[in-house]
Amino acid sequence: MAGRIPQSFIDDLLARVNVLDIVEARVKLKRTGKNYSGLCPFHKEKSPSFTVNNEKQFYYCFGCGAGGNSLSFLMEHDRLSFPEAVEELAKLAGVEIPKAEGPVDHQKEQRIKDIFALLEEASEYYQQQLREHSSKEIAVNYLKNRGMTGQFAARFGIGYAPPGWDNLLKKLARDEDTKLRLEQAGMLINKEDSDRYYDRFRERIMFPIRDMRGRVIAFGGRVLGDEKPKYLNSPETDTFHKSRELYGLYEARKYNQNLDRLIIVEGYMDVVGLAQYGIGYAVATLGTATTAQHLERLLKMVPEVIFCFDGDEAGRKAAKRALDTTMPVITDGKQARFLFLPEGEDPDSLVRQEGCEAFEQRLSESLPLSDFFFKTLEEGADMSSLDGRARFSNQALPLINQMQPGILKQMMQEKISELTGLSLEQLISVNNLQETTATHSAPEPDYYHGESDYPDDGYFDYQPEQSNFRQDKKPGKEFSKGNKKFRQAPPPPGGSAVHFNPASTAVSILLHLPSLSSQCGDLEILASSDTGSEQLLYQLNRYLQENPGVTPGILAVDWQEHDHLKPLIRQLNEIAHQTPIIDANNAQQVLSDSLNRLQERHLDREILQLKSQPHLSADDKQRLNQLIMKQAGSRLRKAPEK
Ligand code: UTP
Ligand code: MN
Repeated sequence: MAGRIPQSFIDDLLARVNVLDIVEARVKLKRTGKNYSGLCPFHKEKSPSFTVNNEKQFYYCFGCGAGGNSLSFLMEHDRLSFPEAVEELAKLAGVEIPKAEGPVDHQKEQRIKDIFALLEEASEYYQQQLREHSSKEIAVNYLKNRGMTGQFAARFGIGYAPPGWDNLLKKLARDEDTKLRLEQAGMLINKEDSDRYYDRFRERIMFPIRDMRGRVIAFGGRVLGDEKPKYLNSPETDTFHKSRELYGLYEARKYNQNLDRLIIVEGYMDVVGLAQYGIGYAVATLGTATTAQHLERLLKMVPEVIFCFDGDEAGRKAAKRALDTTMPVITDGKQARFLFLPEGEDPDSLVRQEGCEAFEQRLSESLPLSDFFFKTLEEGADMSSLDGRARFSNQALPLINQMQPGILKQMMQEKISELTGLSLEQLISVNNLQETTATHSAPEPDYYHGESDYPDDGYFDYQPEQSNFRQDKKPGKEFSKGNKKFRQAPPPPGGSAVHFNPASTAVSILLHLPSLSSQCGDLEILASSDTGSEQLLYQLNRYLQENPGVTPGILAVDWQEHDHLKPLIRQLNEIAHQTPIIDANNAQQVLSDSLNRLQERHLDREILQLKSQPHLSADDKQRLNQLIMKQAGSRLRKAPEK
């Protein structure tokens, strides 16, 4: 085994690469002040709690606690081992990894070697007992009753742990050291607080679990009768990691020259049973659900993996879980399929009844991932109603978003378009809106982020210095309005920006807190406005008042279907995305300030327009008087503040 990579080299490497570059290449980030934030790649979330601090060169997720530097990010995100992650970074930095040297953990290496040797010995012992032990008939008969031939018992190295507490102990534990190793190997159990040991596996059929090189790394043992537990597995040890290992993988590779697919089943006997009937390419997870690690491993070897599930409720649940695991892992050119067996059958029992050909026929009829995905989602959705379609796309899109970019992903997005009648762009906007507006409950400080340089209006009593504002990379300047403080964030790097004016501010508040629309009145003065954001505010307010309790996702879908609202969706989305996050306590005040400001502006405008006319009718004059009174009234109301 190679030695360690010197720590000094790793430190140097970390100093050369930028954590932001590493993360940004894999996660969509938005600048928020000093940090960058985005949706955490390590857990499912709708609002961003994942931040990257480039100054300190680390990332952290407030949602799930994941955090670390460039190396740990690569290890976790790309699922690389430590040396692989170092290699990746070195490639990016354009430096050579120095030839490994330094202290290898010789002791640990030796211990693992010893453990492998003992496990091999144990396996041979169990196989010998199946041939020689005085009670071997019971075991042999059991296997014969299950239809197992000598050939396949030998292929899988199946053995017999005879009755008794210390058979293996007596046979293998030459000295105290070996006893300890056998305990570390999971084969002996130490009697609490004593130096007494006993055999873990007693009176069981033994299935050795082998690694890719064919070394025995653990065992599964089945009882001969109905005792519990039916199967006993080795614990996690230095050689055995359940979440990585698959029973039967070594044998499948060894006995199939051209493996082009693998079946994932639940049990040891399913693997052996299928192999006996000519289907030698099944593997079993070891009492756990299939993990991403399992899948990645299999998909590196074959282009197609078929999950096999029982036809009952538990099977369907397991299938959904497998689907969730598979979506982010599957890539173009790879295929995952789902096979459901008749209720009450497992692959072992079924292949015995039907034979190889019928079973393979079932395999060829299994559901491709995308079919299973849509079938599952459609089952719960009412696609004839708007609400149902919105719910459907809200469920489907986040899952599809997790997929690797490629044709399969694109096809699935297109399928959603087909099913919901929405274009891809519209779907993305539905999803964005759904995600961005889900943030209002997050405890955020009361500052605005997003760009707000709109001196056209002077809504805030602060005018950024035009000349250097755009280059200002420092956190935003603070300014106040009334007794409230806002932080004006610097513009996002290169991003298009919403210009926050009173109307878009009000829109963003209503998006996050739709119930406030009940306090806005009809905003009739905006009805004929030709300013986009004012038109948007007017329509949004009206819509929210008419549809109390509507969610942003449903709103977005609904608006697609109204010609006068549809053109407003893009702007709605932009505002939602760049939206200042406002403390819920201030929102009401900011909203009413915005509306007052809009009202004043419209008054001013109309007064000006009337005044500029050469001749005023009696009606016009009356209107003008009313407006001037109104204007005076509103100025009077504002005066005490100053
Ligand atoms: P099942 O209970 O479905 O049994 O367990 P099976 O595979 O059909 O076994 P047979 O045919 O009765 O021999 C499926 C798998 O779940 C794990 C084992 O890996 C088993 O093969 N299991 C089950 C355990 O680890 N422990 C148990 O007690 C039971
Ligand atoms: Mn079975």
